[in-house]
Amino acid sequence: MSTVRPVSSNTSQQTAHASRNRVTTLTFRQKKERGEVITMLTAYDYPTAMAVDQAGIDSILVGDSLGMVVLGYENTLSVSMEEMLHHARAVARGAKSALLIGDMPFMSYQVSVEEAVRNAGRFLQQGGMDAVKLEGGRERADAVRAIVGTGIPVMGHLGLTPQSVHQLGGFRAQGKTASAAKRLLEDAQILEDAGAFSLVLESVPARLAELISKKISIPAIGIGAGAGCDGQVLVTHDLLGLFDRFTPRFVKKYANFHAEMSKAFGEYIDDIESKRFPAVEHTVEMTDEEWDEFLRSA
Ligand code: KIV
Repeated sequence: MSTVRPVSSNTSQQTAHASRNRVTTLTFRQKKERGEVITMLTAYDYPTAMAVDQAGIDSILVGDSLGMVVLGYENTLSVSMEEMLHHARAVARGAKSALLIGDMPFMSYQVSVEEAVRNAGRFLQQGGMDAVKLEGGRERADAVRAIVGTGIPVMGHLGLTPQSVHQLGGFRAQGKTASAAKRLLEDAQILEDAGAFSLVLESVPARLAELISKKISIPAIGIGAGAGCDGQVLVTHDLLGLFDRFTPRFVKKYANFHAEMSKAFGEYIDDIESKRFPAVEHTVEMTDEEWDEFLRSA
């Protein structure tokens, strides 16, 4: 199975962004150095990856949020490596330019450094990703160092780390006390020292996220972490209003696709029931001669 991202030959798919250069971890570093903001969104399938990529996004995260917003699990803990790789491959087929990051699912990197390296490698070899992301700070430093040591770029993830939802006592903001803030800053520096090329800061106070972004030389990508980060990421299904179960406070909704979908499905059912669909233009015909011959032979 090919995980190489092909160059599109379909001109109808091409936009102003379609011919832009491939974004790399080097681009991330250069953008931070130049004070340019980094944009990132999640995607889990081919058409969304294509649309996000063509819009000109810097990076696509195949997040383990897949479990909640696509697969309908209660949280991200049930997501498996096989599920992540399946969706990573679809995204890799759709995206041409964005830096693709595969989110390492729960228990794919915590048991041992060896397993972490092996599973990180699968994201590149079998998932078509360019880099991996994993959650945690100092307790993951050895795994980060080892994965980076094999040549695989690693993005860290600090603050609200959903795979620790039970330990955190729910999906709650982090780093709100002086001691927690100090620990977060230290963890960010430890991840940088371990070789991470970037990190996500989720649901932490804006002034803490801004300070961390300034203190580390790698880009910090915020989600619910204010405007002072080096970049921003959102879960695409939240941004599109596709995921109806709940919307975190930090999300800005740019559409209400769940309602749009319900409306479209309702109209479809209505059209069928009232015989408006399928109409002549949706119907295949055959010549009268063929039809008559068929009737004679039937
Ligand atoms: O899984 C995910 O989508 C994430 C983002 C929220 C950063 O980790």
